[in-house]
Amino acid sequence: MREGVNLQRYNTFGLPAVAERYLALTDVAQLSDDAFNQAPALVLGGGSNLVLLEEIPGLTVHVLLNGIESADGKGRFRVRAGTDWNQFVRYTLEQGFPGMENLILIPGTIGAAPVQNIGAYGAEVAEFITAVHAWEYGRGMVELSPEDCAFGYRDSRFKREPGRYLITAVDFDLSQRRPLKLEYGAIAGELERCGITEPSARDVATAVTNIRRSKLPDWFFLGNSGSFFKNPVVERSLHANLLETHPDLPSYPIDDSVVKLPAGWLIDKAGLRGAGTDCVGTYERQALVMVNRGGASGRDILSFSKQVQDTVMAKFGVPLEPEVRVIGRQAG
Ligand code: EPU
Repeated sequence: MREGVNLQRYNTFGLPAVAERYLALTDVAQLSDDAFNQAPALVLGGGSNLVLLEEIPGLTVHVLLNGIESADGKGRFRVRAGTDWNQFVRYTLEQGFPGMENLILIPGTIGAAPVQNIGAYGAEVAEFITAVHAWEYGRGMVELSPEDCAFGYRDSRFKREPGRYLITAVDFDLSQRRPLKLEYGAIAGELERCGITEPSARDVATAVTNIRRSKLPDWFFLGNSGSFFKNPVVERSLHANLLETHPDLPSYPIDDSVVKLPAGWLIDKAGLRGAGTDCVGTYERQALVMVNRGGASGRDILSFSKQVQDTVMAKFGVPLEPEVRVIGRQAG
């Protein structure tokens, strides 16, 4: 246990924040220590979906359980929670188990993947998860089925009940061959650009890598947390009204009553792509991504995000809900 640990290099936004108490979890046996009687204020994985305010009171647990715990050689894997997501996806493809190629290059760890049911290019991690192993505070080790996890769009039980579970490992099943998901517009276009007519899963992985690199900033060079807001789901009547003034508004049908709108498009058309200050703004090539241009604090990010929400609300009447989690309190 250490006190007063600076978390700036442990979050992809690069925000300064100090953990009152910090514990590196490298072995599940540590979970039976007294320190784990109570839920920590922050369970830190890759730190890629967080806005940290200056002070993180209480305990921060950094999950550093690493590596593949077991593999049956047929596409079933149990992977420890601190393992890097992207490295695992690459490994499965190299081992000849396609399926997660659309999810390549997403930052973060295995343990964070189910929390917000990470997704990209028409795929979601929930499709591949068969169980989540977790430490439940006050109870001990538990195994959750996919139904128990209650996955939704960028959502799960773990997100809705923060502080109840600490994920230690995730089971994946890639044993069944599935058709490639190419229907996402940009993928087909990228494959065509590369002259590929009969793509393999690895070709799709390369296409997704190219698209992500061209649109999403690398946090190593420009601090960010991927999409800052969720894509909002609105009533069809509001969508119909918006189409009258904005016929080019893209949308994804959900059911008979609601549609999902791209938040990036709304922010862009509200004139905010690339907007901001010297320290915080939206990314020039993807307005849904908020970036730390240097020296931003969590407070700077939140006040700019509020401005974005207000502007989009005033122009389109659509509320934007953050996808990222805000943790801590402001100093002083
Ligand atoms: N658009 C604009 N201007 C922009 C940004 C987007 O007009 O500045 C338009 C695009 O042209 C497109 C639409 O908005 O018509 C959607 O944009 P895009 O295809 O880039 O996807 P997104 O909806 O913004 C979602 C996920 C991403 C994921 C991509 C690819 C959410 C909140 N975000 O973004 O996930 O990588 O699709 O599948 O669902 C993340 O969660 O951190 C993340 C990066």
